[in-house]
Amino acid sequence: MTISALNTLLERRHSCRAFRPDPVPKAQIEQILSSASCVPSWCNAQPWNVTITSGEATDRFRHALQNEAQTGTPAPDLPFPTSYTGVYQDRRRACGWALYQAVGVERGDRTASARQMTENFALFGAPHCAIISSPSELGPYGALDCGGFITAFTLAAQALGIATIPQAAVAAYSPFLRQYFQIPDDRLILCAISFGYADTDHPANAFRTDRAPLGDIVEWHG
Ligand SMILES: Cc1cc2nc3c(=O)[nH]c(=O)nc-3n(C[C@H](O)[C@H](O)[C@H](O)COP(=O)(O)O)c2cc1C
Repeated sequence: MTISALNTLLERRHSCRAFRPDPVPKAQIEQILSSASCVPSWCNAQPWNVTITSGEATDRFRHALQNEAQTGTPAPDLPFPTSYTGVYQDRRRACGWALYQAVGVERGDRTASARQMTENFALFGAPHCAIISSPSELGPYGALDCGGFITAFTLAAQALGIATIPQAAVAAYSPFLRQYFQIPDDRLILCAISFGYADTDHPANAFRTDRAPLGDIVEWHG
């Protein structure tokens, strides 16, 4: 029973890239945050801190972020991956192509793919955005703990019929986010999660990613 309920959530969750504008009731956002807070963290430090926008505050942020993405320079607090090679490159390409195919971007059409990429800065039309940060002094393990929180956030939201997308693209503009939301200097900005109700008719939501078979990810001993 329990594993099948969990599997249902895991299988139904996907990254949503087109939202309806309807707001999520605050009590449901609080429920998502309380559920996500149940994840383990080293020494139970619970390093996650969440800055959440709703209503007009989301629209003001969206416009400011779009402006920053056009005029500013990316400077993420957490270094972005230096490269994707081998299977990681293959998987990255597969999910990128699946998205482009869904929204009608031809392979090699860099203008159209860049335009799709900028949807990140419109928060894919979501009515809410959560910015996740972790204390710098906790280093990569603080970020690791927050990764668990982010995943649990997406699953708790799914359990309430609320769609999500974690976005490192937003964290590319960490200095801007820090200033805009007055996030203290001693915290690392890790990523955003845009969330709300999915626009299920939008082509960007019409594809799903797959996963490598266990044989590709596990080495058994004994
Ligand atoms: C930490 C993190 C950062 C991500 N950043 C972005 C992003 O900036 N833009 C985007 O479109 N998707 C982003 N994603 C979503 C991934 O592309 C997505 O999780 C992956 O392709 C698997 O698809 P699924 O979430 O639909 O299962 C991010 C996911 C994670 C976990």
